Amino acid sequence: MSKPHRPFLRAAAGLALAAAVFACAQRRTGAPAEVALDPHSHANPHQVRVRHVDLDLRLDFATQVVAGRVQLELERTDPGAPLVLDVHDLEVAAVRGLDGTPRVHRTEARGLPEGLGEALVIDLAAADRAVVIDYATRPGAEALQWLAPTQTAGGARPFLFTQGQSVLTRTWIPLQDSPAVRVTTSARIAAPEGLVALMAAEQLGRDAEGRFLFRLTQPIPPYLIALACGDVVFRPISERCGVWAEPPVVDGARAEFEDMERMVVAAEELFGAYRWGRFDVLVLPPSFPFGGMENPRLTFATPTILAGDKSLVSLVAHELAHSWSGNLVTNATWRDFWLNEGFTVYFERRIMERVYGPERAAMERQLARADLVRDMAEMEPWQQVLHTDLSGRHPDDGFSSVPYDKGALFLERLEELFGRAEFDRFLRRWFDAHAFQSVNTSTFRRFLEGELLGQAPSSALTLDVERWITGPGLPDDAPAPRSALLTRVDEQVSRWRTEPRADVLTTGAWSTQEWLHFLEALGPELDARGMGELDRRFELTSSGNAEVLCVWLRLTLQHRYTPADAALRRFLLGVGRRKFLTPLYKQWASTPEGLADARAFYRVARPRYHAVSRGTLDALLGSHDEKDR
Ligand code: BES
Ligand code: ZN
Repeated sequence: MSKPHRPFLRAAAGLALAAAVFACAQRRTGAPAEVALDPHSHANPHQVRVRHVDLDLRLDFATQVVAGRVQLELERTDPGAPLVLDVHDLEVAAVRGLDGTPRVHRTEARGLPEGLGEALVIDLAAADRAVVIDYATRPGAEALQWLAPTQTAGGARPFLFTQGQSVLTRTWIPLQDSPAVRVTTSARIAAPEGLVALMAAEQLGRDAEGRFLFRLTQPIPPYLIALACGDVVFRPISERCGVWAEPPVVDGARAEFEDMERMVVAAEELFGAYRWGRFDVLVLPPSFPFGGMENPRLTFATPTILAGDKSLVSLVAHELAHSWSGNLVTNATWRDFWLNEGFTVYFERRIMERVYGPERAAMERQLARADLVRDMAEMEPWQQVLHTDLSGRHPDDGFSSVPYDKGALFLERLEELFGRAEFDRFLRRWFDAHAFQSVNTSTFRRFLEGELLGQAPSSALTLDVERWITGPGLPDDAPAPRSALLTRVDEQVSRWRTEPRADVLTTGAWSTQEWLHFLEALGPELDARGMGELDRRFELTSSGNAEVLCVWLRLTLQHRYTPADAALRRFLLGVGRRKFLTPLYKQWASTPEGLADARAFYRVARPRYHAVSRGTLDALLGSHDEKDR
């Protein structure tokens, strides 16, 4: 377990005192007392709270700078308190009141864990209801990835996108970067001639100077503010759904995602109205470090889910589900991340079941549980806990399959105990009662006690909620879903064990999920000869399915199956998705010679990767040059 740094402990003690004072103040005002301060933000929303963020920005691709001004509208509960914002790698040029006169401000390092930036403290005048900040991003701003034309599908124009979660919004906008501080947004964006600017907001066309106009009237946590700019076009799927992508990609993406409207309908039938108007997906270039990001009205997605057969569209169901779990009801701090992701994975599977049938959902459940068990075997106990202890840690240290898949298993267990009908009613009440609020784990526990467990038949009282939420590992009552199709794949695994020949395997029209199960089950015991045998019959090295290819390439490294080397290098250069890069580099670096090769290769590939992926890989390969971070 890593030790918290001392300065952080000091800051934490100060915060605890402030939180206690705040809790008293809240009791007086009747506000919920559990809204404690966020340990990953410098902000003071209990004194001065940002309510609206109005942006006026220019995107300068030549210098890779976003510059302009932000106007923050404020709600002040403590008239004597300054406004405290989060900033990280930002150049603040001036802070003014609405009357244009300057406001005194300073930047303070407060000893939060590395990567969380500084506090921007602004002394307010008595009458201030808003401040205006002139600023520019610095070249290293981690929320931004500027892509050269060669990193795009079209190859002719550059591309820019932002990634806010978890704590990166403060690297492109000075604001109160805590998921407990919800804001509405509006923006004017000046983009280069011929490029389209998009935001996770309502599009209001362009003004006389050609700037793109946006506004979002629903209050969102700052990590959901998102912008992209590139040569993209739109294809509708339904009245409220469609796809944005570069021209060479857009028609394939439209075909892949043609069931989007059905997904939204399924989600609404389950847990109530979709409250964001449109649901569009923007397919980004392959360097996007995540699979998907649930930016409101406009999910950002990796092109690596375009398999051609809709086999990876559960990612769209996942990001859609966040429109309830995450965007509507938001984790108040990053300790409560499982409330976002665990609920979303559970909800995603329910959507998949409705749109693609129970067998598809069962396969995805079983695969995820197996991954979770494999992952947890290598984790420290604190990492295996849902309500994780992030004191002294960066929020992303809590990122793993635990909040996702252990979280989903907990909800599946509740469903098993109470039955679908009752559990569905409970979840719908949860979303309705906390809509547009940020909530923490104790809010959920109280709601669970009051609305479900309290009314329970005695059989349900065997549930050990404390163990599920605060204990490591998987409780004994964790559901263990079995898919009939994957059981049939196991028969082929056994067959290979008795006779390792590809031509005797019955694979028929195996889906992606069946292939993944087959490769994961057989993986540890394969050898280079066996891999050659499989490759000749099934052409796995040239698979167009990124999930299958990633598992296969990892095995080629593990068992030194060299005919796949060129494909491996191509994949590592072309794709920036952290979920794929991490296991591949990790496997490559697991022997001394491999480590040297992996480092040499990484040095070349690194500039193509997003800061999020670079951060993880730098730590893994221990070979980065601090100067070029
Ligand atoms: N919100 C997450 C992505 C994220 C989490 C970004 C934490 C930064 C910090 C998104 O909804 C997500 O979970 N994406 C997954 C895909 C999903 C199908 C499990 C991903 O990117 O792999
Ligand atoms: Zn998610």
